Amino acid sequence: MLYDSTKPFHTYVDAKAGTVDRAIFADQAIYEMELERIFARAWNFMCHESQIPKAGDFFLSFIGEESVIATRDKKGELQVLLNSCRHRGNAVCRAEMGNARSFLCTYHGWTYGLDGQLIGVPGYKDFYHEQLDKSQWGLVKAGKVASYKGFVFATMDPEAPDLDEYLGPVGRLGLDLMAEKGDVVAVEGVQKNLIGCNWKLAVDNLYDWYHVQISHASSTMSGYSRPLVPAVVDEGAPKPPQQNQQMLHRVLLGDYGHGISGPRRSPEMREYQQLVGDKIEPLNDDRWRDEPAAKAALGEAGADTRGHPNIFPNLWVASGGTQLSLRLPRGPGQCEIWWFTLVPRDMPKETRDLRIMRANHTFGPAGMLEQDDGENWDQSTRATRGPIAQRYPLNFAMNLGLGEPTVTADGVRYIDTHINEHAQLWTYRAWAEWMDADNWADLKKSRTPTPVGAV
Ligand code: FES
Ligand code: FE
Repeated sequence: MLYDSTKPFHTYVDAKAGTVDRAIFADQAIYEMELERIFARAWNFMCHESQIPKAGDFFLSFIGEESVIATRDKKGELQVLLNSCRHRGNAVCRAEMGNARSFLCTYHGWTYGLDGQLIGVPGYKDFYHEQLDKSQWGLVKAGKVASYKGFVFATMDPEAPDLDEYLGPVGRLGLDLMAEKGDVVAVEGVQKNLIGCNWKLAVDNLYDWYHVQISHASSTMSGYSRPLVPAVVDEGAPKPPQQNQQMLHRVLLGDYGHGISGPRRSPEMREYQQLVGDKIEPLNDDRWRDEPAAKAALGEAGADTRGHPNIFPNLWVASGGTQLSLRLPRGPGQCEIWWFTLVPRDMPKETRDLRIMRANHTFGPAGMLEQDDGENWDQSTRATRGPIAQRYPLNFAMNLGLGEPTVTADGVRYIDTHINEHAQLWTYRAWAEWMDADNWADLKKSRTPTPVGAV
């Protein structure tokens, strides 16, 4: 079924049957509506504050396909500005990041301040006769800009709820799983590459622990993939408890489509980690979770959550809270993947180097895992286009109806189960709600609340 404007989007995602129509991965009209109804409305991740610490620092990011400048103005306030001159639309910033006093358009020379104000117009007196109202022709500014523990987000829609409300407990926990590791800073440089896939398939995959054994078999066989059971550096350390990690998963379904899904730490594993202490290989060291501040932030549901969070629509907090990945839309069949690596500021150089090396060899264009994943997403996207394939929906029914939530004392719900597809289906369900809603007021009213019963 290709896009039919008479049918609401919730008919493309059958949450009861656990199926999703292939048109949503292929259709140009649907894609264009996503840019407007999801990306132009949502809180989008811009950068980490450590990438723009001083006045004049800027980082070029995207809202959907539109280039935006995240910057700090002279007062040190965060600003997010559409990177398009108000004269003929030219980009006013071409560098990916840096420090500037102002943004000069290289076409005719209009100049904008760090807060987006139009401050300079060549020929203002002679050609415009001082009749151009500069106060009306500044760069387009984001509707709201905010930072959560150093993670900078912006929405173009002033009607959007504040960031804290947008994230809700699950979105906040997703970011806490990185932020609570200490004072983290972004490593210089962001890896960027294009994959021939629909952006939603790349998002869907971050929750997918079903594919690991098959898709990443070569990485496992080569000895590259790290086991989920913590490795120790001391041969004499006690052996970890024997567990089937595929059966030990935790899912959290959050507001507006956020989610967390993946392995959880068992009580035996938590005890084991305390027992072996410093003998744990540093990249597997989970003891930061037991520090009082982290413990309070993560709460009962987060203490043992080791899965992958996604901040809807497209920010993955990856690699056990070491990397951030954006899945940026570039057409129905193209996705630009960005990888940020973050490390605690005071991390010893040796561990920091090891972490960066792991990051570069796991994801990104040279990543062992992303090369496997990218091929699959590319083939899946190709197979959504044909008129024959279009007649047959995709299946997201694993464990459907059997995911029973537990409610914590602070009201957070989580589902402990085995490998499953709850978070993927939740994402598509939220996607349909965003696409059907006409505006923020409508979305707030019509969205499905975090489920109380079995999903
Ligand atoms: Fe920017 Fe003309 S397009 S000054
Ligand atoms: Fe993968």
